[in-house]
Amino acid sequence: MQAVIDKPTALGRQARGFSSGRPVPDGIVGNAPRFEETLERIHRVSTTNATVLITGETGTGKELVARAIHRRSRRSSHAMVCVNLAALPKELVASELFGHEAGAFTGAIQKRIGRFEAANSSSLFLDEVGELPLGVQVTLLRALQEGEFERIGSNQTRTADVRVIAATNRDLEEAIEDGFFRSDLFYRLAVFPIHLPPLRERREDIPRLADHFLARVAARLGRELSGIDTESMARLIEYSWPGNIRELQNVIEHSAILSDGGILHVSPTLLPTRVIGPPMASSLSEAIDAGEKHLIERALAESNGRVFGPTGAATRLGIPSSTLESKIKRLRINKYQYRISAA
Ligand SMILES: Nc1ncnc2c1ncn2[C@@H]1O[C@H](COP(=O)(O)OP(=O)(O)OP(=O)(O)O)[C@@H](O)[C@H]1O
Ligand SMILES: [Mg+2]
Repeated sequence: MQAVIDKPTALGRQARGFSSGRPVPDGIVGNAPRFEETLERIHRVSTTNATVLITGETGTGKELVARAIHRRSRRSSHAMVCVNLAALPKELVASELFGHEAGAFTGAIQKRIGRFEAANSSSLFLDEVGELPLGVQVTLLRALQEGEFERIGSNQTRTADVRVIAATNRDLEEAIEDGFFRSDLFYRLAVFPIHLPPLRERREDIPRLADHFLARVAARLGRELSGIDTESMARLIEYSWPGNIRELQNVIEHSAILSDGGILHVSPTLLPTRVIGPPMASSLSEAIDAGEKHLIERALAESNGRVFGPTGAATRLGIPSSTLESKIKRLRINKYQYRISAA
């Protein structure tokens, strides 16, 4: 891993900020100026017991960072316990997290230890924490504050020493406004927030990341792949990467499988939806921005300012809500002006 970090392509070497020699957690490639502060924060928080909230669009490395923080912590001799709250039926979340006694509810045949208890002396990774049902948010807040909880169906209070690392690609502040997330839990989770910037805001890292994924896939395929052709690399740097680092990884792997070895070529057809090629003339890009802004404002007006949910603006526009959020920020749209004030 270190070798990858220390061996950028020529393009990567030109990128600003390559002088940093600070060790980074295993497997986390990147030192774009925009990413430097993030790395510094990861480095500083790892050895503490502080609760960490990792935010960022899909594919920006939230899980990778959570694992790195645990690995570098004093708790690393115990395995980190992971729960993906988006993958659990709402009604099972409380028992999954805090456990239950036999017969606590229909279907609870045997007693079960929850993930919080299982994470005693270790870290608990709460992935997609924005999906936590409101009812369970209170229970989690108490568990975080006091280290105390009860299994469902038991009145015996138990304690566990757990460090929570949470992640979300949801705008939790918006969820609070909409009444889906408790502000007290948010402030407790966000003791130490770490924001992972989208790849389009740290383009300097694209060559280094691409080389990293190429080396990995080449080893896995047992194929000699010595680099990426200049034209393909330029295309990778220009692309807007809505799926972020995961998408870059997929594109490199896909291209490697199609290649016969030697220098990797990335077909333009793998980078379909967005702008490809040299940066646009400002008049053209301004026109595109204006058109985009118009469409987004219309969708927000139709959704009464809601971004998320089945009737939200993101669904109307057919794009991920995280993508819409970042467009709203970039185009300086005031989404709140579309809220209908309660009569
Ligand atoms: N800085 C990085 N260096 C190297 N690989 C990275 C980096 N960031 C992310 N990756 C890789 O990109 C992929 C996506 O990362 P990860 O699963 O951590 O993203 P995520 O933010 O949790 O995404 P989602 O919101 O969709 O769950 C993984 O294969 C991960 O190893
Ligand atoms: Mg994830």
